[in-house]
Amino acid sequence: MSAAAPDLRLDFPATRRNGDAILEVLTRVLPSEGSVLEIGSGSGQHLVAFARALPGLAWRGSDPDPRHRASITAWIDHAGLDLPPPLDLDARHRPWPMIRVDAILSINMIHIAPWEACLGLIDGAGDLLDDGGTFFLYGPFMVGGRHTAESNARFDAGLRAEDPAWGVRDLDDVAMEARQRGLHLVETVRMPANNLSVVFRKRQGLR
Ligand SMILES: C[S@@+](CC[C@H](N)C(=O)[O-])C[C@H]1O[C@@H](n2cnc3c(N)ncnc32)[C@H](O)[C@@H]1O
Repeated sequence: MSAAAPDLRLDFPATRRNGDAILEVLTRVLPSEGSVLEIGSGSGQHLVAFARALPGLAWRGSDPDPRHRASITAWIDHAGLDLPPPLDLDARHRPWPMIRVDAILSINMIHIAPWEACLGLIDGAGDLLDDGGTFFLYGPFMVGGRHTAESNARFDAGLRAEDPAWGVRDLDDVAMEARQRGLHLVETVRMPANNLSVVFRKRQGLR
């Protein structure tokens, strides 16, 4: 008798908790048809839940961590979804694969990575998205140089203690960098646990 294959699916409790609230926003801001690339898909739990709920969109995940990519593939297989394998993509490194996408999402990534990852993400979104494309970020943000909650300030201090290159980003800095690449902030949605959903649209020629 052969041994059962190991279950490579990772379970991120925060991802299980915030998925429904994020999906509510995505359902409203994403097109009903087209293609979506997720950067830093982690376990793959969001990708699979969103792909199930929004089947008109062609979903593709990515992550630079091989253990995470194995988990994403395992969640896709477990769900019986017909999605392509996740890309090995580190937002900091150029070039990104020049695939056509209508939306790019990144959830809880830019504060758990160096600022260069945020800049690389914005560069990639600016390059890949066509006019009208959607760029979506979710996570904790500072606004106007201030934390929006004491819990976010504590979280930020913990991140920076773990790695000085990490830290909660200021939405004003992110929006300014995005605008320089033709990505315009169109909506900010307050989310549970002092997080924000942030929606940008690509507007070519409008900087
Ligand atoms: C906190 S996890 C969030 C995962 C998932 N988006 C979620 O919400 O469950 C952060 C993810 O970002 C990925 N990541 C870290 N640095 C990255 C980079 N430079 N480019 C792309 N992804 C990165 C990590 O491998 C990890 O999967």
